Amino acid sequence: MISPPRAKRRRRLAVPAAAGLLALGLGAAAPAAAGPADEAFETAQTTLGGLAAEQGRYFGSAMDGFHGDTYDRILGTEFNSITPGNALKWDSTEPAQGQFDFTRADEHVDWGLANGQEVRGHTLVWHNQLPSWVDSVPDEALLDVMRHHITTEVDHFEDRLVHWDVVNEAFEEDGSRRRSVFQEKIGDDYIAEAFRAAHAADPDVDLYYNDYNIIGVNAKSDAVYEMVRDFKERGVPIDGVGFQGHLILGQDLGSVQANLQRFADLGVDVAITELDIRMELPRDEAKDARQAEDYATVVGACLAVDRCVGVTIWDFSDGHSWIPGVFPGEGAALIYDEDYEKKPSYHSVFETLGGVEEPVDPVDPPVDECTAVIEVINDWGTGWQGSVTVTAAGTALDGWSLAWHWPADQLIQSAWNADWSQSGTSVTAADLGWNGQVSAGQSLEVFGFIASGAPVEPELSCTAA
Ligand code: XIL
Repeated sequence: MISPPRAKRRRRLAVPAAAGLLALGLGAAAPAAAGPADEAFETAQTTLGGLAAEQGRYFGSAMDGFHGDTYDRILGTEFNSITPGNALKWDSTEPAQGQFDFTRADEHVDWGLANGQEVRGHTLVWHNQLPSWVDSVPDEALLDVMRHHITTEVDHFEDRLVHWDVVNEAFEEDGSRRRSVFQEKIGDDYIAEAFRAAHAADPDVDLYYNDYNIIGVNAKSDAVYEMVRDFKERGVPIDGVGFQGHLILGQDLGSVQANLQRFADLGVDVAITELDIRMELPRDEAKDARQAEDYATVVGACLAVDRCVGVTIWDFSDGHSWIPGVFPGEGAALIYDEDYEKKPSYHSVFETLGGVEEPVDPVDPPVDECTAVIEVINDWGTGWQGSVTVTAAGTALDGWSLAWHWPADQLIQSAWNADWSQSGTSVTAADLGWNGQVSAGQSLEVFGFIASGAPVEPELSCTAA
């Protein structure tokens, strides 16, 4: 049975009223209080999050703590969703059996909420970042231990999260079940049981199955597809599938849109949950360009599928990516570089989301409207006579005013045909109306003077009136 589209807690994000402020360089909206965890930012329309919101979607980033003003500001303003990258995992929240610690998780979740962001919960049941005590739980007790973990954590975050990745990475590449401790001790039904427990704890939060290498059509995504189809048929409460999208530059993305669509057609939402596109280091222009194309393809595929609710990149800056630590020699997988400069992939995502990047107008170099020179006409030792010529540049002048500084002991004794004044070594002179007109490109001898001291020809500034 295929159920009709529905959305539980997923909000259609509005574009905040402060939209545009950041784009104008007016800075982040007032932080609520000091300290990264207390700061509140607003998302402007011309951010990735703002653009996604206009399409009823989110564009989010993973995060795993705070890294200073620039990082925090971008995280809080550019995205309308965040996913804590580690803080909600089993080893963080239940490090010892029955002893839950949500300190760090709360800090990350509440920071996102304070910034008006949606927060995805990642992840309840996974074979990694699982405390070692779980391995020693007796076979027959593990189902209850898993349920207890899920119930406690989902309860704790009730009303704060939009999605939960209930089960993460349960399949192998060939479509068989990964032989995790849960699979081995509980059996095939552990996934359905996890979803049931999460649904019982919070019937409103959207429940996702999440995995890597399932973004295109292949044996693994076929197996997940079959599981989702079966869950929908049996009424197991699944709401969405998360396609991690840890991709390699230049990977074949030809089937992504069709793959997302076939899952959506089963009656679940779909989301790109952990996008990054890694390359062999170092970066170069060609790799950056290819990466920009690949990002656009994935984001475009999501936009083309009605039930694709959003895209999350797995952190946003190459300086805070998990890739170099796990894939030696590879990296540069995100859309900002280590210095928080936007990369070509940022711009391609921006445009794919419908943003229009205004070309920056090269500022016209100031054009002199007129120039003027002093010519020495006569010199009698203790004084001299000068004549001033004004030249109009491209436009005719209807008045001119001049200013200059004498270098030393020169002083005007008398002048004719100008409205002039002198203060110390500064002189100004302007036309008298009848001698203000100079045709475009023409030069005109406009006034004369007698000065004391030695003759000089200083630089004059000329302004059209
Ligand atoms: C990664 C985190 O980003 C790292 O900080 C951590 O050391 C290992 O896990 N698939 C997932 C994520 O579902 O939880 C992983 O996150 C990346 C792969």
